[in-house]
Parts: sequence; structure tokens; C-alpha cells
Amino acid sequence: MPEAKRERRSKAWADHGRFFRGWLRNPRSVGALFPSSSSLAKLLVTGIRPGAKVIELGAGTGTVTQAILDAGVSRGDLLLLEKDKSFAKLLVRRFPGVDVVNADAGALDRYASRLDGPADFIISGLPLVLFSAEEKNRLLEHVFATLGDKGRLHQFTYVGRCPVPREQLAALGARAALIGVALFNVPPAFVYRLRRASVLERARPSLLRTSLRLLGRKSRRPG
Ligand SMILES: C[S@@+](CC[C@H](N)C(=O)[O-])C[C@H]1O[C@@H](n2cnc3c(N)ncnc32)[C@H](O)[C@@H]1O
Repeated sequence: MPEAKRERRSKAWADHGRFFRGWLRNPRSVGALFPSSSSLAKLLVTGIRPGAKVIELGAGTGTVTQAILDAGVSRGDLLLLEKDKSFAKLLVRRFPGVDVVNADAGALDRYASRLDGPADFIISGLPLVLFSAEEKNRLLEHVFATLGDKGRLHQFTYVGRCPVPREQLAALGARAALIGVALFNVPPAFVYRLRRASVLERARPSLLRTSLRLLGRKSRRPG
């Protein structure tokens, strides 16, 4: 077996061990037994181009971080927030030049300004389905305040639906769409894109209500 391939394989095994130990330390927070596969990481970086400013929440052992850098993002345009101390230390060692903060993603508002300008993408590996409705709300408010107008949040989940319910999205003035499914990830994972709704999309329900009211009035008028 060629040396490079052997090295890649042994690094992958070491990461599986680290991840499993991370899960033993805090199963709810790590939320998975294995790091994301490269196919899931590729799906998560859909649309990211060189020059983009990116924040990654819950970077773990850095599989997705590597995919973000491979998409052409420069190290100075990438900020990582990772709650687990030993994962954060590993990320600092593994990605020199990338700003790694050992902090809870809930404190995003405190750290987002370390990036020079608004983020174009926030890539999240957080186990959002395990967050309470209040925790999700707080986090998403920070996320949308941090993203520029055209900014996107990419979130993966192992359950086959968006981890943020429709009513909660509507209350936040946000929209979600499925980007794709990483079938060969263990377990298979679904990647969603969340964005702020446009002015027109936000106005649409009230426009519809007003039109229906006007139509109702017209049809009640004697002919
Ligand atoms: C499912 S793992 C994903 C790891 C990595 N992104 C990957 O795809 O392999 C979740 C990661 O989020 C981190 N995490 C969980 N809750 C967090 C929080 N509130 N703030 C920051 N990181 C958190 C965990 O420590 C873990 O590294």
C-alpha cells in the first residue's frame, strides 16, 4: 500500500477513536459515534467558493473544516467554534492559521466579529435536534444576525426532516430547503440550507390575506 494512503487510513482510524472517546465524555453534545464522511463534508460545503467567509460550529476532529479549506476558503476567513476542549486543541494543531475558539456556539454573537465582515456561510455540525426550542431560537437569532443578507446556514441531521420545525422557521422569518442526502455516511445524513426569507416571501402571507379579504368584499356586493 502506498505510504500516503497508509497515513490517511491511520489518521482516519485515530479520528474514529478520538470521536468515540469524545462521545463517551459527552454523548448528548457529540451526538454521533463517527466523524462525518468525506461525502457528507462535500455536501455541507455546497456553494462555498474561494473568497467566502465561513464560520463552522461544532467542528469536532475537522473533517468538514478540511472540506471548507479544500473549497478554496483562506485560513484567515475561517472561524471555528468548538465546545469540547480536546477537539478544540486538536483543531488548533491541525489547522494552523485558522481561528479556533473553544466555546459554546450559543456565544456566537461574542466571537463573530473576529471574522473581518459578515459571514457568507455558517456550517453547523451541532446536534440541533437535541437542542430545546429556546436553545435553537437563541442560536438561530445569532446565526441570522451574523450572516450577511445572502448568507446561508448549512446544517446536517440524521433524522429525515429539517431539525427546525416550520413554525419556528416562520417565526424567525427563515426558510429551509434540502440540499441533499449523504447516503453512504454512517448513519445516512440529510443536509439542509437555511436562509432568511426575502421581503417578498415575508410579505406573501399578508398579501394573500388582503387579496382574499378584498375578493370576499367584492363577491358580497349586490350585483
Ligand atoms: C456530530 S459532531 C460533528 C463533528 C464534525 N463537524 C463532523 O462533522 O465530524 C458535533 C460536534 O459539535 C460539538 N458541539 C456540540 N454542542 C456544541 C455547542 N453548543 N457549541 C459548540 N460545539 C458544540 C461537539 O463537541 C462535536 O464536536
